[in-house]
Amino acid sequence: MKFRRPKGTLDSVPPESGHRQAARELFGRLCRLAGFQEIGTPTFEHTDVFIRSAGSGSDIVAKEMYSFKDRAGRDLTLRPEGTPGVVRAVLENGLRLPCRLFYAGAFFRYNQPQKGRCREFHQFGVEALGEASARTDAEVIRLGHEFFRHLGIADCRLVVNSIGCRDCRPGYHKLLVGYLNERRDRLCADCLVRLERNPLRVFDCKNETCHRALGAAPVPRLHLCPTCAEHFAAVLAELGRLELPFAVSDRLVRGLDYYNRTTFEYLSDALGAQDSLGGGGRYDYLVEEFGGPATPAVGFALGLERALLAVPAAPTAARLPLVFVVWLTEADIPQAQELLARLREADIPARIDYDASLPAHPKKLKHQVRTADAARARGCVIVGGEELGRGACGVKDLATGVQTEVPLTDVVERVRALLPTASA
Ligand code: HAM
Repeated sequence: MKFRRPKGTLDSVPPESGHRQAARELFGRLCRLAGFQEIGTPTFEHTDVFIRSAGSGSDIVAKEMYSFKDRAGRDLTLRPEGTPGVVRAVLENGLRLPCRLFYAGAFFRYNQPQKGRCREFHQFGVEALGEASARTDAEVIRLGHEFFRHLGIADCRLVVNSIGCRDCRPGYHKLLVGYLNERRDRLCADCLVRLERNPLRVFDCKNETCHRALGAAPVPRLHLCPTCAEHFAAVLAELGRLELPFAVSDRLVRGLDYYNRTTFEYLSDALGAQDSLGGGGRYDYLVEEFGGPATPAVGFALGLERALLAVPAAPTAARLPLVFVVWLTEADIPQAQELLARLREADIPARIDYDASLPAHPKKLKHQVRTADAARARGCVIVGGEELGRGACGVKDLATGVQTEVPLTDVVERVRALLPTASA
């Protein structure tokens, strides 16, 4: 083999590519039901878009961006996340607010690859722009949870927190910085920088000594202003009303600087160290920061690779909603092609094995059966012989081996019954 994929990237090959597609469709369906419309933004943006949003002190900006100059010397970056591009696009295209948007696509972060962490990965995200109510926070949180539930991830745990607003954060920061300054000697070099730029980031450090230094550090939730406290209480009450189990996690500050008030993550024990299936929160200042009107907003992004890791394994022997039209002699091929066209017109995935007619394959029928099996087809329609003389063909269920004679006029309906998902 001459080439291998770049470190930290994945190929998506069948049957896994089918699971991705199904997850994508499920996500789109749930989003549309909740009134979100799809948005697409470029895979790369001007680098400033990410610096202004995630914050220069965030790990993403400081260490993980794929940034480059194009041939005209512009500073560009492969998008490490979706929120800033969506906000930019909403303003640039003059979308009317409030608006609810969802997206799916590839994102890029230069980090150390491990289980559930890649350099190119895929996110499904939603952004509700222009909605301030705590009930929206809860509705958005529930949407992500519903997605995981429909995927069959039973152990998805929800953690929530509130990190306050412009009014309460400065006072809280002072307290935290005071506490950490007394323990500077136990902080790593990165956390000393975080202390200057955004002390909340210290909660995100993976370093064990920093964790210990945090000890009984003041946490944002216990220093909220009355309005933030009321908002958070309302989010929790609404989650309770929606019967969504959750835990409050005082140290959940999230790795991006644009958040305020509600932050949340979906966790799974199936993932190991990278246990976050997805996360999000409120970002009431970002639209303004990008030059737009004051606009409250809340959203999340879910990691597709991690979601697929957490889904209980699908049975690998499962057959696909696909049929093969098998012909007995060369003379039967035109009739087989006509059936093939009818099946496809009826939205039933169908294939035919033309290679079986080549001189290299003297055992025509055997070759076709083997091809259908390799494709994991659920059934085949057999055209030719005496049955064709009677205006019929054989329909065989490849999972059970049962074959029945079916009039040519009824083939589409009979195959549809065999492949319930193909017609869905
Ligand atoms: P985030 O927490 O950085 O948030 O990423 C969301 C999810 O993307 C993570 O929980 C994880 O499942 C997945 N993810 C992140 N990095 C990787 C990686 N290197 N490999 C595989 N999966 C990964 C955001 O991106 C925010 N934009 C979410 C948001 C939307 N907040 C408000 N609106």
